[in-house]
Amino acid sequence: MHSLSLAVLLAPSFLAAALPAFAPGRIGVPIHTRDAVGALETVLLFDSLAFEDADGTQLLAQEAYVHLSQIDIDDFLEDAANLLSSINIDLGQDLANAAERLKLFAAIGVADREVTVQVDGGDADITVGPTSSDDRGLTWQNATLGDCEVKSAKVAASAQTEDGRTFASTIFAPATDGWGVISDIDDTIKISHTLDTLELLKATFFDEPEPVAGMPELYAALAEKLDPQFVYVTGSPYQLYPFLHDFVNTTYSASTGPIYTKNLTLTSIDDLLGFISGDNTQEYKVFIIDALHGIFPNKKFLGVGDSTEADPETYGEVYRKYGPDFLGCAWIRAVDGANNTDERFAAAFAEVPAERWRVFTDDEIASLADIDLDGGSC
Ligand SMILES: *[C@@H]1O[C@H](CO)[C@@H](O)[C@H](O)[C@H]1NC(C)=O
Ligand SMILES: *[C@@H]1O[C@H](CO)[C@@H](O)[C@H](O)[C@H]1NC(C)=O
Ligand SMILES: *[C@@H]1O[C@H](CO)[C@@H](O)[C@H](O)[C@H]1NC(C)=O
Ligand SMILES: *[C@@H]1O[C@H](CO)[C@@H](O)[C@H](O)[C@H]1NC(C)=O
Repeated sequence: MHSLSLAVLLAPSFLAAALPAFAPGRIGVPIHTRDAVGALETVLLFDSLAFEDADGTQLLAQEAYVHLSQIDIDDFLEDAANLLSSINIDLGQDLANAAERLKLFAAIGVADREVTVQVDGGDADITVGPTSSDDRGLTWQNATLGDCEVKSAKVAASAQTEDGRTFASTIFAPATDGWGVISDIDDTIKISHTLDTLELLKATFFDEPEPVAGMPELYAALAEKLDPQFVYVTGSPYQLYPFLHDFVNTTYSASTGPIYTKNLTLTSIDDLLGFISGDNTQEYKVFIIDALHGIFPNKKFLGVGDSTEADPETYGEVYRKYGPDFLGCAWIRAVDGANNTDERFAAAFAEVPAERWRVFTDDEIASLADIDLDGGSC
């Protein structure tokens, strides 16, 4: 401060910059400004879905996260290292993975930001936001596409900042009817060891991600046969989005689609572990699937999940709500060590006809590709 002269301190531009959240003449009363993304801020633009509402207006269901660019992850890394060394896991060279994947947990969300999205080939920009006025920095909303009509099933988009930076994403614009696949990620398409906290920690932050053997080929076969829109709904928090996105984009390149992650702001590693294996997952997944039903009321979905968490219960609830025209079929991977009893599945799929769902073991994965979903089998 001592290097600033009194003249600078009293200059209107300095005051304006120092008091951005206060209305002139009403000093002390904060108002919500809706500013563009600033030079010190970064945007995470999620892959999104374009769709038509009942009036034929094209909308974009777009989620974005705005946070401060500078991230200090030292405390998080130290916590993780302490936790792991207490159980004799040596981080060694995996530390680089951890630093990258833990980064967003230490990020500080920025409220009240408008994000400008440019669609490849579109004639205008779309504005989404403002980000939530708490400190989460998230926004998820349906924006009108207007002059940015999305004409193909997969279109590149980007968030643009006034200082010329861009943050890329993909817009998926599938047909309003036909098939879709709703898929879980952890222990359905990726080995995550959800049932074992320490193994979960290792798989999530340190190891190279490993697909469930046979699942990439199965999804590629489904893509070829049914041309469905894949939509991934995971209990993992949005801070892991870049990691999961990279995994799906490379390992499941034939079956890409938007990835819906949970919202919560977490402040410690311990929070996080409880969170991924947490028990509000069913409520969250049904919330997302409700939104998907609103977006694609005329699509028919195959739901794929596993027995570690609440996927059977989630798909059972969705079927009871929307019936077989929306959830045509549910496939559940039986994971060793989970509750795979008949009584659990019978309760989860109460009122769902037995021919609308199946539980599969890993040696059955390859044969799932032969099931004639379009012909009504499941
Ligand atoms: C997540 O946050 C966004 C933005 O604040 C909000 O629109 C959405 O409803 C939240 N989702 C859940 C499941 O709470
Ligand atoms: C996703 O993979 C494709 C290649 O299959 C690549 O061109 C694209 O840049 C990747 N996207 C991201 C965000 O990594
Ligand atoms: C967007 O619109 C669809 C269809 O009405 C609805 O299901 C969904 O919840 C909406 N999403 C948001 C974030 O408002
Ligand atoms: C499995 O789930 C059923 C139904 O919820 C429950 O009654 C049973 O106690 C569970 N078994 C185990 C071993 O957790």
